[in-house]
Amino acid sequence: MKQACVTGDVTTLKSECIIVGIHDGGKMTPSASAVDKVAGGLLAGLCKAGDFGGQAGETLFLHNVSGIASERVLLAGLGKEKEANEQKYISALNKAILAAHKGGASDALVCLNEMKIKGRDQDWMLRTGAQIAETALYLYEDTKSKKNPPKHPLKTVQWLADKSGDEAVKQGMCIGQGMNVTRTLGNLPGNICTPTYLAETAIRMADDFSSVKTTIVEEKDMEKLGMGALLSVSRGSRQPAKLIVMEYNGGKKDDKPVVLVGKGLTFDSGGISIKPSPAMDEMKYDMCGGASVFGTMEAIARMKLKLNVIGVVPSSENMPDGDANKPGDIVTSMAGKTIEVLNTDAEGRLILCDALTYVDKFKPAAVIDIATLTGACIIALGKHATGLLSNDETFAAEILNAGKQAHDRAWQLPLWEEYQEQLNTNFADMANVGGREAGTITAACFLARYTEDYTWAHLDIAGTAWNSGGDKGATGRPVPLLTQILMNRANA
Ligand code: BES
Ligand code: MN
Ligand code: ZN
Repeated sequence: MKQACVTGDVTTLKSECIIVGIHDGGKMTPSASAVDKVAGGLLAGLCKAGDFGGQAGETLFLHNVSGIASERVLLAGLGKEKEANEQKYISALNKAILAAHKGGASDALVCLNEMKIKGRDQDWMLRTGAQIAETALYLYEDTKSKKNPPKHPLKTVQWLADKSGDEAVKQGMCIGQGMNVTRTLGNLPGNICTPTYLAETAIRMADDFSSVKTTIVEEKDMEKLGMGALLSVSRGSRQPAKLIVMEYNGGKKDDKPVVLVGKGLTFDSGGISIKPSPAMDEMKYDMCGGASVFGTMEAIARMKLKLNVIGVVPSSENMPDGDANKPGDIVTSMAGKTIEVLNTDAEGRLILCDALTYVDKFKPAAVIDIATLTGACIIALGKHATGLLSNDETFAAEILNAGKQAHDRAWQLPLWEEYQEQLNTNFADMANVGGREAGTITAACFLARYTEDYTWAHLDIAGTAWNSGGDKGATGRPVPLLTQILMNRANA
């Protein structure tokens, strides 16, 4: 999709569809007012008659509006003016963009950025708007035999805004495109999206962007490095594990990189501690942390962000097999620490710990790991907030703040040393599970034992990475959060 800002008079600018916002109760945004004026009070009349209520997400097409150069006017409800917030803007825009797309408009002039939200400036409205426009039309069809692309897709979105907003629009587009990359990787099934497939995707990324260099660490290299934890998970699967390393060089040569480590578990059956059958298919999404690293690399490479970033994705399947981990097995991780695998379904931390040890060689400015790590995080935070745990309070605050900026929010849980003793065992340096209590925290406690040498944060995205039910699918989170963190660092 093409997007840019245009300035001018909404009534004389030409497009196939202008999208103007009206609040619940009929209060009009400036562009709606301008349309209403030249059209002799048409919009006010529709509101008064009750034909258009202005509820958030409501839409109404008007044709051949007199005095308007554009073919059609799409009214978009914004909800009550007093209750204007990010969510209302996002849902109004989503619905309006989809309506224009399905209604056959190939270009639209969008004016919804005129909505006023407390604490949000015009750049925010444009950046978020462009991101929503980019993701609203996302359609997963990769594994359908009959593709159904719309005959007249929406190809161009113009924002009624000062040209200085183009930079924000561009950023939003890059983030949206990155999210779509993440969603497709997440939505692909486990028999297609294997560790090898992810490795090939990373190699393709390096072909697409000269700023990205990809290296794949193969199982024989892992053996040499002593990655006994990662390899113990992979041993139960016929798919070879891959440790994918994507280096993005946008900063100065000697600038320390920010390292993103994403869990790339392409299917989690639980292993010998096998999961129950209902909804087990959703464990294809267990690579969404890794997918968010791909999406973030895509976004920053498109933006040409001035920062050095390394994306690392340890990727494996977790399957039951004659050679799989058994409860009680003890494995030795790359850091030399021994782990008693009391539950083979706590495999994420096993593949992550070796990746977290591996990335020390990059002398990172900071490391963030992103993982669909614990069902307990869904119980604690539901699907709205990503869980955040960190060994550095300043870094945690930086991430929480970026989450608010991007409206892709995280919520911090404590990483107190008191929780560490839940990982004690008589037979190894630690167990891979810490019992029923505080499952998200003890998972992070496990990882914390591998990240003592650098500034580190852990994002548990088990609740935020995908939706279940009717709109089942990967969400593209937390690409906006990760990209915001990196953008802030690049501009610091
Ligand atoms: N990938 C799962 C976590 C998960 C479960 C994410 C459900 C989203 C929905 C992870 O590998 C896992 O199985 N974790 C266990 C840990 C437990 C054995 C300590 C869990 O959460 O049950
Ligand atoms: Mn598991
Ligand atoms: Zn898992």
